[in-house]
Amino acid sequence: MRAHFLLPALLIACHHEPAAKAPEPAGTIEAQIEQGKQLYVARCAKCHGDAGQGSAKAPPVVGKGAFPEKPREGAKRDVDFHTAADVFAWTSKHMPGDAPGSLSTDQYLAIFAFDLTANGIKLDKPLDGPAAQAIVLHP
Ligand code: HEC
Repeated sequence: MRAHFLLPALLIACHHEPAAKAPEPAGTIEAQIEQGKQLYVARCAKCHGDAGQGSAKAPPVVGKGAFPEKPREGAKRDVDFHTAADVFAWTSKHMPGDAPGSLSTDQYLAIFAFDLTANGIKLDKPLDGPAAQAIVLHP
């Protein structure tokens, strides 16, 4: 078992990593995702759950059940979600549920960059309107 002998070397390598990661430079996708994560925790998690799993108060925004094409039974949402831009347009008007439209466009974009990443969608540059339009969730 070769892997067994590699492990101590890996542990030593990890041990030498600096304790705190240097902040990513502004304007990178990494920085946008990090900003989105902090905003999600501060403004969205209390209803949608720490990991976006949903709660009694709100539907999931991460995982298999997230962003269904059609509104759920009895939902306030009155639009279909085809692309990430559709989700974005509806969300930036109606969310957070307790203060609709209270964030800036850049803040909503950052939250979406974080949320799409959490859903396994790989972004290679900061999310903007055209990029969201190109992400097809339901054709
Ligand atoms: C006070 C609770 C609350 C907070 C805070 C909140 N939401 Fe929501 N959210 C809801 C509820 C309730 C719904 C379902 C609305 C409906 O009936 O269509 C919803 C729906 C959504 C949907 C559509 C989900 C779907 O399947 O239709 C998205 C996306 C979303 N929220 C994102 C966010 C984001 C991003 C934030 C933070 C900026 C946020 N929400 C904060 C309560 C909340």
